[in-house]
Amino acid sequence: MKPLRIALTKGRLEKNTIEIFEKIGYNCDEVRNKGRRLIMNIGDGKFEVVLAKAADVITYVEHGVCDLGVVGKDTILEKGNSFYELLDLGFGKCKFALACKDGYDFYHGYGAKTIATKYPEVTRTFFEGKNMDVRVIKIEGSVELAPLVGLSDGIVDIVETGSTLKANNLSVIEYVTDISARLIANTASLKLRKNEIEELALKMEAYLNDNNRKS
Ligand code: PRP
Repeated sequence: MKPLRIALTKGRLEKNTIEIFEKIGYNCDEVRNKGRRLIMNIGDGKFEVVLAKAADVITYVEHGVCDLGVVGKDTILEKGNSFYELLDLGFGKCKFALACKDGYDFYHGYGAKTIATKYPEVTRTFFEGKNMDVRVIKIEGSVELAPLVGLSDGIVDIVETGSTLKANNLSVIEYVTDISARLIANTASLKLRKNEIEELALKMEAYLNDNNRKS
């Protein structure tokens, strides 16, 4: 049987996932010594790990070339989901927040506000929920800059420690939603390779529950 293929979001989510795989008994030496390689075997050939950017993890899983993926809820909310969300992995915790310059009265006045964000879908959905008309400007990174230079009234962005906002004299107006890493599955793989996927997801879940009890 060919290995189950798992797409991991490169970086911190990849490292956290590999730690769990090792804790539940799968050999991850190939990933530990990967160099510039993008596809590696783990669990002595039971799984194949693919490293990709967050949005691409979803693309690979949706197209069925990867059976499973590990990706942040932020990317899931932005890209939509025609896949199955199996497990909240509990790491990569942060929040989406609406923020603006310290002391700015964001809800004052009637004119449509301008929001800069890397997450236009999340932003539109949030303001639709408030029946508020806003203009959304897509920014690729360092979104905090936009209100400082006068491009926008506010931002919708990820806040983890809050130090980027603080260092730039910005404050949270409202939290939008909590974010953490999720294990996702291609819907066809979930039927065709149910037992293998279930075995892995249950082992991961048991480890996470055990870990939560200890902390
Ligand atoms: C993220 C996010 C914030 C920052 C929040 O940016 O977009 O800028 O981290 O973290 P904090 O609350 O702990 O300060 P990232 O580092 O991914 O860079 P980017 O903005 O260039 O995408």
